Amino acid sequence: MSIARHGSSSAHAAFAGPHVAIVMDGNGRWATAHGLPRPAGHEAGVRTVREIVERAVEEGVGTLTLYAFSSDNWKRPSAEVSALMRLFRRALVNEAKRCLRNGVRLTVLGRRDRLSSSLRETIDQVEAVTVAGTRMHLRIAMDYSARDAMVRASAALRGESVSREAFTDLLARVDHDLVPARDVDLVIRTGGEQRLSDFLLWECAYAELLFLDKMWPEFVGDDLAEALADFRGRNRRFGLAPEQVAS
Ligand code: FPP
Repeated sequence: MSIARHGSSSAHAAFAGPHVAIVMDGNGRWATAHGLPRPAGHEAGVRTVREIVERAVEEGVGTLTLYAFSSDNWKRPSAEVSALMRLFRRALVNEAKRCLRNGVRLTVLGRRDRLSSSLRETIDQVEAVTVAGTRMHLRIAMDYSARDAMVRASAALRGESVSREAFTDLLARVDHDLVPARDVDLVIRTGGEQRLSDFLLWECAYAELLFLDKMWPEFVGDDLAEALADFRGRNRRFGLAPEQVAS
C-alpha cells in the first residue's frame, strides 16, 4: 500500500493557531448534583460547546478537537446512548450553522460504520457545508478510540515501514478525518479526573496537559482563555535540553 500524504500543507496553514483537544467530562455528575437526569447534563454540555467554539475562534485556536463519544461509551446503558446519538444529530446541525457563519470547518473523527445511517448522513452534510471554513478547524470525536485507530492504521500498512508523518496521515485516513491530524498542543480535561481515556494518544506525544475540577457544563469562555494563557507560559522542549530551547 502506498502511503502518500493526502492533505496539502495549505490546509494546515489555514488553521495556524494551537491545537486544543478537550475531554468534556462531568455532564452526568453536574446533572445529578442539580437534581436533573443525566441527559439534561449532556444538553447543558452542548450549550457549553457552543460558547467554547465561539471563544476558541476569538482566541486564535487553530484546531479544536472535542471528545464527544468514545468507543467504550457504547457500553453505557442503551437509553443514555440513544439519547446521546439523538443529541449529536441535533447539535451537529445547529453547530454547522454557526460554523458556517464563523468560517469554521467542522469534521467528525472516528469510526462511522457503527453510527446510524441518519447520523452518518448528517455528518456528511455538515462536513460538506462547512468545507470552505478557514478560521478554525473544529473536530468532533465520535465512536473514537486512539488505540483502535492505531491498530487499524498498522494493519493497513501490511508490514510497510513509514515515517511518523505518513503514519499520522494514515491515522487521519482510517478515522475519516478530512484534514490530516496535527499534534495536539494542549489537552484540557474537565470533571476532576486526570487521565487521557484513549483520546488522541499518538497526537498527544508532546501535548501540555491541564486538568480542571469544573464539570463541563460549568466551563466558560474565560476558562478557555485562562487555559490558553497558562499554555503560553509553559516551557515546551520536545526532548531538547533547556539551553537548546532558550537559544
Ligand atoms: C462526558 O460526561 C460527556 C459525554 C459522554 C458526552 C459529551 C457530549 C457533548 C457535550 C455534546 C457534543 C456536541 C456535539 C456538537 C456533537 P459524562 O457523562 O461521562 O459525565 P460524568 O463523568 O459526570 O458521568
